Amino acid sequence: MSEQKIDSGKRTWIIASGCAGALGAGFVAVPFVSSFEPSERARAAGAPVEVDISGIKPGEKLTVEWRGKPVWIVRRTPEQLAELPKVDKELADPMSKRDNFSTTPEFARNDWRSLKPEYLVVVGICSHLGCSPGDKFTPGAQPSLPDDWAGGFLCPCHGSTFDMAGRVYKDKPAPDNLEVPPYTYLTDSRLLIGEEKKA
Ligand code: FES
Repeated sequence: MSEQKIDSGKRTWIIASGCAGALGAGFVAVPFVSSFEPSERARAAGAPVEVDISGIKPGEKLTVEWRGKPVWIVRRTPEQLAELPKVDKELADPMSKRDNFSTTPEFARNDWRSLKPEYLVVVGICSHLGCSPGDKFTPGAQPSLPDDWAGGFLCPCHGSTFDMAGRVYKDKPAPDNLEVPPYTYLTDSRLLIGEEKKA
């Protein structure tokens, strides 16, 4: 188990890779992982990642790497949380009940899709072809988004939109909500990504 640094330069590669697609991302990952130090290789291969979330301000997002994937931790504001139930009817699977696609652990099958409502933890890879959606946290009309946009994420590749819980809107190319990884709280300010709390 090791400490994960915040957004260090070489770990932004998936975000920068844009629409490489799921297959393309896999090919990119090989030289990237092989350039790691041994301890980093172990982490990229699947070791849990411990994250200090004490520095995330309301409305901010922290990106860390787990299993070679970007994991987003968003500290949602009270206003953002209040919007979540209001958009339920516009979403493809608001409670993450689908079994054919879903990668949502039981603990996240709710409106906020997280252990604690304030913090969203999702893998930042679109469920369509693996692009990295962009942050569109500001509500209201703007290019490529509806006039009543409530805040969320926009995948630039084929226009899939996700709300502030990573739930995909209806009739979009992406078949499912963003993946919620297994995780648990070690303390109020420390997350362990890659493991759920043992019963
Ligand atoms: S990869 Fe996201 S919409 Fe196609």
